[in-house]
Amino acid sequence: KADSPVVVVANRLPVDQVTEPDGSTRWQRSPGGLVTALEPFVAGRGGAWVGWSGSAGEAPEPFESGGMQLIPVPLSEGEVDRYYEGMSNASLWPLYHDVVEKPEYHRAWWDTYVQVNKRFAERAAAVAAENAIVWVHDYQLQLVPAMLRQSRPDLTIGFFLHIPFPPYELFTQLPWRSAVVEGLLGADLVGFQRPSAAANFVQLARRLHDLTCRRDQIEYDGRTVVAKAFPISIDAAAFDELASSSEVIARAKEIREELGNPSKMILGVDRLDYTKGIGVRLEAFQELLEDGVLEAPDTVLVQVATPSRERVEHYVHMRETIEQQVGHINGVFGSIAGPAVHYFNQSMPREELAALYRAADVMLVTPYRDGMNLVAKEYVAARGDGGGALVLSEFAGAAAELKQAYLVNPHDIAGVKNQLVRALRAEPAETTKRMRAMRRHLFRNDLEHWANSFFDALRRQA
Ligand code: UDP
Ligand code: G6P
Repeated sequence: KADSPVVVVANRLPVDQVTEPDGSTRWQRSPGGLVTALEPFVAGRGGAWVGWSGSAGEAPEPFESGGMQLIPVPLSEGEVDRYYEGMSNASLWPLYHDVVEKPEYHRAWWDTYVQVNKRFAERAAAVAAENAIVWVHDYQLQLVPAMLRQSRPDLTIGFFLHIPFPPYELFTQLPWRSAVVEGLLGADLVGFQRPSAAANFVQLARRLHDLTCRRDQIEYDGRTVVAKAFPISIDAAAFDELASSSEVIARAKEIREELGNPSKMILGVDRLDYTKGIGVRLEAFQELLEDGVLEAPDTVLVQVATPSRERVEHYVHMRETIEQQVGHINGVFGSIAGPAVHYFNQSMPREELAALYRAADVMLVTPYRDGMNLVAKEYVAARGDGGGALVLSEFAGAAAELKQAYLVNPHDIAGVKNQLVRALRAEPAETTKRMRAMRRHLFRNDLEHWANSFFDALRRQA
């Protein structure tokens, strides 16, 4: 029934339906930063969430969960193939991340992308109340704003892109570039992680579509569309509270013991994605062991590499490469006492991640390109004890905010090695000072701040 005043539309629901070997199904939390950020926001407002359940076939009936009304959208096997794995994750994802891997373009993928976007728009239109606010998310659904506006001109429509938005010279590779820009222009407000991304979009509107633009405003079809940066964040207070609970602190201590009480523990936490620069990290660590600057297992690296998009070719290759690299390092530098790299190709619950953050001396976040990187923010939120040092790529959105991190260029291995050693050897007084400064920024710019600024800007457009 059409009764929701606030509707969120995203490719994924906050929970994923998984099928057990015995054929039974259960729901588990979906992977990725989008869900981390949106879930507390939607749950807090009792909104509706339109999204895919994560498995192909018929969609479950709408249901209530954690104060949210969840509305599953079905995708067939072929649609998962062409819309999700193909167009979304083998065309748009690499294109928007600086073509770290070469994007592929196929007309059949695009046709299915259009068809699936239509379905999401129809579902959203069916649940949104008169004059409701509909907030569409991310690169999988860029056509939904225009489709929704056509069927429901009464709605106020916001769009937020969680990943980077490429410059004109890259974006215009896309054979369907005009359709994507027109799709996004269906929104009243288009939000990006960084000001440069918003500027890229405005430039496209001007150069590709010859539209009149004034700073962050685009005149289109008799309306004004605003394109602006709203850097996303986490519920810092909630994560801080979790990480300083006695259970998590005890678990952090236990983790150090289970690792054999190393003098230094380095940590990486990522979806197993080629944008994240996991290989760079392993290479830097390996070279430091070879150089004799670090010794294992006195210093260990723990890498959580959560399975992701496992049927997309780029991901299959990258997993093989990473696992070979880990095997090589452990073959050479491991001992009976334990490996040098503790590698987990598993999804970890939040509590365990919080304990890992709390246990780690240095957190390594080295993406080649990342919209924001919430893992970096979670690490900072978890260090209420003032301990820990963050090594962070300049190419993550988070670097624009967490300026006191040890910043690195992930393409420069020598630089990564230097900063890692600096972070490992820094005096506690220095790391605490850096951590406190980052925490101050994070607590002022938390999830609530992000969602409120977006919503305030959107309401001004209504
Ligand atoms: N995450 C998780 N379990 C894992 C790995 C990651 O819950 O095993 C969460 C992590 O805590 C963070 C999110 O997934 O909230 C990843 O967000 P980020 O912005 O760093 O990267 P994304 O995966 O969205 O590219
Ligand atoms: C990133 C994207 C999200 C996506 C998440 C997990 O955070 O911005 O849209 O949901 O990764 O990826 P997946 O393909 O598993 O949904």
